[in-house]
Amino acid sequence: MSGLTRCVIDAGLTSREAIFARLAEQLDCPLPANLDALYDILSREAVGPFEIVWRADSTALGEDFARILQTLRDVALERDDVRLLEEAAGRDDADGQVKVLFSERQVAERVQELARDIAARMPREFTLVGLLKGAFVFTADLVRALDREGARPRVEFLQVSSYGTGQESSGKVKVIGGMPGSIEGQEVLLVDDIQDTGRTLAFTRQMLLDHGASRVWTCALLDKPSRRVVEIEPDLTGFVIEDVFVVGYGIDYAERYRHLPFIGKVEAD
Ligand code: IMP
Ligand code: MG
Repeated sequence: MSGLTRCVIDAGLTSREAIFARLAEQLDCPLPANLDALYDILSREAVGPFEIVWRADSTALGEDFARILQTLRDVALERDDVRLLEEAAGRDDADGQVKVLFSERQVAERVQELARDIAARMPREFTLVGLLKGAFVFTADLVRALDREGARPRVEFLQVSSYGTGQESSGKVKVIGGMPGSIEGQEVLLVDDIQDTGRTLAFTRQMLLDHGASRVWTCALLDKPSRRVVEIEPDLTGFVIEDVFVVGYGIDYAERYRHLPFIGKVEAD
């Protein structure tokens, strides 16, 4: 989204007054005297569209800051033209090798947008096939987001493998375990974490069609178009990224980091 006024609340702001002053200055609005006033001022449409990037570490800054953050969340929920990006300050992986690329909040917002798009384009009932292991977190969030949009997917999983345990693709895709049942005549939404060379989605998509799916839609949370080897574009994409190696939100590096709640980038060591 461009055209939004942007206000960054960073870790350098160490008092409530400093945060209020930053908001008033950057959003060009009156200085709030307290939290209620903050809410009243920002929830009024009189203040134009804006985006707040919250980088302060609210756990370190205490109760007062948690309340300001909560008030900003309330405003963002209230207004469609306001975005709050909570960047996970101080929430890098313990060994310091992972940097946040997309925060929990950014991922959650994008997943809901994808669900809205899917619900608008696909029939109300369809079969969603999530690819294990990488898409397990994405699939879990996506089905709940789809429910909020009125869709009623059946959920299946399929485990395929294209990578070894390093960062380079083996170039081959194989199915581990069985095929999902009941896809004959179904519209299928194939869900993966990352579209990289394209081999996994192309292979799996064809396999589902061979097993009788009437149509296969593809959805990848992340897309690295610069890495493509096989000609295939996902029907739905969460975020387009550069050729960087990412982890978290279900995605691993040698089976590590799947548990991270955000999407991060592994720093070269
Ligand atoms: P493709 O078959 O080359 O498109 O590869 C897709 C699969 O490779 C994804 O489902 C991931 O499991 C894996 N992959 C690709 N890029 C990354 C990455 O940056 N981090 C972790 N896994 C990746
Ligand atoms: Mg995968």
